[in-house]
Amino acid sequence: MITREELLKKYRDYFKSKGHNWISGASLVPENDPTVLFTTAGMHPLVPYLMGEPHAEGKRLANVQKCIRTGDIDEVGDAIHHTFFEMLGFWSLGDYSKEKSIPYTWELFTDVFGINKDRLAVSVFIGDENAPFDEESYNIWLGLGVSADRIAKLPKSENWWGPAGTTGPCGPDSEIFYWIGKEEPPKVFDSENKLWSEIGNNVFMQYNKTADGKYETLKQQNVDTGIGLARVLAILNGLDDNYQTELYKPFIDKIEEITNNKYEDNVKEFRIIADHLVAATFALSDGVVPANKGIGYIVRRLIRRSLTSLFLITNSESNSTLGKLYPKIVKIYGDDYPQLKDKKVLAAILEEEDKYSLMFYEAIKMIGSNTSPKQLFNLYQSHGLYLQIAFEVMEKRLGYKLSENEKNHYRDEFKKLLIEHQDLSRTASAGMFKGGLADAGEVTTKYHTATHLLQEALREVLGDHVSQKGSNITPERTRFDFSHPEKMTEDQIKKVEDLVNGWIKEDLPVTMEEMTVVEAKKAGAMGVFEDKYGSKVKVYSIGANNPSAGSMSSPQAGLGSRDFVSREICGGPHVTHTGEIGGIKIVKEEASSAGVRRIKAVLI
Ligand code: ALA
Repeated sequence: MITREELLKKYRDYFKSKGHNWISGASLVPENDPTVLFTTAGMHPLVPYLMGEPHAEGKRLANVQKCIRTGDIDEVGDAIHHTFFEMLGFWSLGDYSKEKSIPYTWELFTDVFGINKDRLAVSVFIGDENAPFDEESYNIWLGLGVSADRIAKLPKSENWWGPAGTTGPCGPDSEIFYWIGKEEPPKVFDSENKLWSEIGNNVFMQYNKTADGKYETLKQQNVDTGIGLARVLAILNGLDDNYQTELYKPFIDKIEEITNNKYEDNVKEFRIIADHLVAATFALSDGVVPANKGIGYIVRRLIRRSLTSLFLITNSESNSTLGKLYPKIVKIYGDDYPQLKDKKVLAAILEEEDKYSLMFYEAIKMIGSNTSPKQLFNLYQSHGLYLQIAFEVMEKRLGYKLSENEKNHYRDEFKKLLIEHQDLSRTASAGMFKGGLADAGEVTTKYHTATHLLQEALREVLGDHVSQKGSNITPERTRFDFSHPEKMTEDQIKKVEDLVNGWIKEDLPVTMEEMTVVEAKKAGAMGVFEDKYGSKVKVYSIGANNPSAGSMSSPQAGLGSRDFVSREICGGPHVTHTGEIGGIKIVKEEASSAGVRRIKAVLI
């Protein structure tokens, strides 16, 4: 067994021996960066020093930084993803480069931590027009004894990190992976195989991304690193589940006790309860106040998702359960983060729990086997009960089996009612249907319009077989799932980005017109609606001065013959001109399910 404290000590001692000064971590709420809600990496508070300002502690630094990444929220529920995590980091501020940082990383993992070399693999940047193939890193890994089979050369979507916000330091990176599979690791490293779990990253921060999307060479060449503490702790203790480490096990045990349920039977719910509560508590301890918008809304939603998962696995009404789990957080982290003990933190958790429990239990009393979509819609309006949560209540608490068809029927009817109520201009539809962190703010509005452009660009680059399979928008990114049989090439990704950014640059007008579904289809609009509704739908057009003019176009017409860039049936909200979006970058392209790809894009 190795504890978090012992691991931290080994880490600190190792980097001290290599001449690094230990600095304290920063708040979860970034001080000087309005473009992101939370601190998402150890480098985030160090941006000025990566840009060249001298740091009082010198050029070699190391620390542990608390981070929140809501972009990973849908992954929470598996064994290794979290919204809150601690990141170990070490930095060279214009001092050494990869010739030292890679051997440090290797020695740390294999000698100091004693991880079996046979279970490790790495990746390096393959090169593009912004930066060349990272041959130096490739050769350093080879020199350390990593076999060529275990070194993947990957494009920017995988091997480029930053900036943390929209502008700032960034660069090619080299990641290190651990084989978490039960069987022996394969000889050849395949980055698409999820059993290769990323445990650390060396970013060679040599560039500054400017507001107009250019990469300038920084005046100093830095190294920024990040290592997931919880993942490493699990590995060092021979566990294949982070939630079995001392960082989460106390919650799991207590939830078993309170709910009278077994972890094995409800892994996903247990993990969400614990992860989201920890994230929300840390945010509260850094001064965030639950609210209906912005960062306060994220915290409120984290608490509510934690509670919803709890309610789904227990039949007795909750009685300050989160309040009973809270002392575990103080026990694990209280010495290092004393602000967790602030009375305001527990008070806020209890208040949120009280409010939401009341609403939730009142709402679900109204759900039965034959609850109509209209009734669920009313519950959404009166109690904020999301459709996705209503499904989970029906399936998990009431034991009804809902087929995908039935769910789609509910979704369609629900959407139609929303449109009838003309509520969508205030609400982020994508997030709502998926139960995501919907937010009606300015940022998500930009993401909505950007997502329309993305879909169009994907169809232009990959072909008309591309159709939307899902979408989810948070204030930090848009996620878009679409039908396509194979991994996109680096070149295709670049083309899609360029197309979208080109349309943004043109500052095309975005216009809305209400029409019937038949009219919308005739006008060439994409969308998921059937003709069965006589009611009017909103049709958003991008790049058509007069949307009605488009009604002459045939939906079959090729893109070239159309008089608009994009036309979709959609509830909105959208920006009025594409220029407001600023620009986008695709940060991830991966498989979602068979024949479906998933991309994540951020505003730049
Ligand atoms: N900043 C880099 C990351 O978060 C190390 O992966």
